[in-house]
Amino acid sequence: MAIAKRAVLGIGGGIAAYKVAFLASRLVQKGVSVRVAMTPSSLQFIGPVTFAGLTGSQPILSSTQVDADGSVPHIDAAQNADVYCIAPATASILAKLASGAADDPVALLALTMKCPIIVCPAMNDAMWHAEAVQANVATIKRRGVEVLGPVTGHLAEGYDAIGRMVESEAMLERLLEVLQVQ
Ligand SMILES: Cc1cc2nc3c(=O)[nH]c(=O)nc-3n(C[C@H](O)[C@H](O)[C@H](O)COP(=O)(O)O)c2cc1C
Repeated sequence: MAIAKRAVLGIGGGIAAYKVAFLASRLVQKGVSVRVAMTPSSLQFIGPVTFAGLTGSQPILSSTQVDADGSVPHIDAAQNADVYCIAPATASILAKLASGAADDPVALLALTMKCPIIVCPAMNDAMWHAEAVQANVATIKRRGVEVLGPVTGHLAEGYDAIGRMVESEAMLERLLEVLQVQ
């Protein structure tokens, strides 16, 4: 039997986090093994129980987490991953990726991953256009990180502009392409 492809999903603190629950569900339905990592802020937007239920494994919630069986999840998850997708990729996460910070599990995993990394930014248009954010995006792209979106559409602020995270279907399509899963 073929070994299941493995995706790790890193969740940042933005409203668009709800879209990643759908993504996780669809990946699991496609036979992909999914492990989730969550920043502390993301817990304000979506609960770890949702991802535990959808994926069958406990999310990684801390950069110093050691699982009950003694394994260190950021090392195990990174060793086996076929793709790492960070969504919503907040301005803060983009800054951490650009600088190499490792003080939350999502950023830490980005340093330990050997597989392709895809980030899906989500933020309002002012944040997206900020010079610091654009510089961070340019830095991580130069290092080979794929940046999917953002798109122009309805923002939580109540108007249409650039900054909306791509939809779950677009993330799913790209991840399945990278994983070579039909
Ligand atoms: C309602 C609400 C929505 C937010 N949405 C976003 C967002 O879409 N993008 C973003 O960069 N920050 C957003 N923020 C701010 C982040 O939650 C904040 O910068 C946080 O520190 C990000 O932490 P993290 O990147 O470690 O998850 C939002 C804050 C609030 C209160």
